[in-house]
Amino acid sequence: MSPPHKPKQKRGLWSSRFGFIMASAGSAVGLGNIWKFPYVTGMHGGGAFVLFYLFCIFVVGIPLMLGEMVIGRHTHRNPVGAFNSLRGGPWTAVGWLGVISGFVILSYYSVVAGWAVNYLWLALQGTFSSQHASKVPELFAGLLSSDLGQLFWQSVFMASVIGIVLGGVSKGLERANKVMMPILFLILVFLAGYGVLSPGGPTALRFLFYPEWSKLDAQSMLEALGHALFSLSLGMGAMLTYGSYADEKTNLPTAAFTVSFMDTCVALLAGIAIFPIVFTYGMQPAGGPGLVFKTLPIVFSRMPAGSMFAVLFFLLLVFAALTSAISLLEVVVSYYCDEQKWSRNKATLVIGFLIFLLGVPSALSNNLLKDFHVIGDRNFLDSIDFLASNYLLPLGGLLITVFTGWVITTRVAKSEIEKGAVRFHFYPVWHFLIKYVSPVLVAIVFLHTIGLF
Ligand code: TRP
Repeated sequence: MSPPHKPKQKRGLWSSRFGFIMASAGSAVGLGNIWKFPYVTGMHGGGAFVLFYLFCIFVVGIPLMLGEMVIGRHTHRNPVGAFNSLRGGPWTAVGWLGVISGFVILSYYSVVAGWAVNYLWLALQGTFSSQHASKVPELFAGLLSSDLGQLFWQSVFMASVIGIVLGGVSKGLERANKVMMPILFLILVFLAGYGVLSPGGPTALRFLFYPEWSKLDAQSMLEALGHALFSLSLGMGAMLTYGSYADEKTNLPTAAFTVSFMDTCVALLAGIAIFPIVFTYGMQPAGGPGLVFKTLPIVFSRMPAGSMFAVLFFLLLVFAALTSAISLLEVVVSYYCDEQKWSRNKATLVIGFLIFLLGVPSALSNNLLKDFHVIGDRNFLDSIDFLASNYLLPLGGLLITVFTGWVITTRVAKSEIEKGAVRFHFYPVWHFLIKYVSPVLVAIVFLHTIGLF
């Protein structure tokens, strides 16, 4: 007898709740935590910025993450399919915005991640030891000026991402995250422990945690909120997609809370690992984007056992970037598998290759295309990063909070959260935050960045 319905195309599921949490934490913990958080904290003056960042995680980040996971698990669909099946019409565009963001972000993310892979390779060869100290300051400029070099490392990185995503949800994504994330935590705890005990430790801790409120201006607050969304991988359906692979017994509030907590811990630990050695060797904390690629290597080349620290640090950076890149690719792949009925192999290979191609101008933006300015005086890489971080993600985040707070009914949200007999005592708090507080705050950031006030 033939089945009454056409069987649904098989979608993956996480094989365990631990796997779901590790994968989601892997998505959240990325270059944003280890490369960007320390340098933006450095530029915005430390403690007060950090405290305000924590506030943003609580009132906007955790609620929105839970919102995305609820939508994902309720529909068991990619972002486009999810918005389409819940409401359709113009809301489907929110899903599209997510898929496009995944495509765009991964294109330049893989170039920066390629730098990290190159540095790991250099570190393994002992480049950051004291014998080569005089060459270290020029390394970064050398890498940026090399077109073939960057294309090579970008393709090494993209090939690894594609290789993992080809494996599927539980055998590819989950397995890779379950190996890389624990190693990442161990390395980070070790480096942070070393940092605290080094001579610059107390200065660094004071810098990171002692709030000087006068340093917190409107610009820093906007930056903190924007970065909280980026760091938690929110605003483009990455957590929605990962939530769609969770089974009905998974406790989503606990997952959202745990993942946000881990992401925040990693960002803070990265600061605790990096700033003490920066201070110990008298370098500038406000070094900007070059902090981990220019400042730190110089420090490694001067400190005892610096070669070993360099290997550990860049391994950490590569793992963090890989686990995030996997989730960016997965968002796009899930759309082509669910909606266009492509096989996972075809979707991963075709999309992975197209994303690589879009990344090529980013890899060339500091050499061949150095004089090609897209937005203002920004080169291609900076422009596309600017576009994604300031427009695509905040707009996506705003629309998803509005959708969760105002469009899906309380009955759907509540019953989805309480599946598997979970009692969620904070439901009213969550509902209030996602309905009123998060949309208003995200709207302020967005309207400010597009220059409306
Ligand atoms: N959260 C990652 C980081 O901190 C970046 C990232 C991965 C991301 N997936 C995302 C950002 C989805 C936004 C949306 O580096």
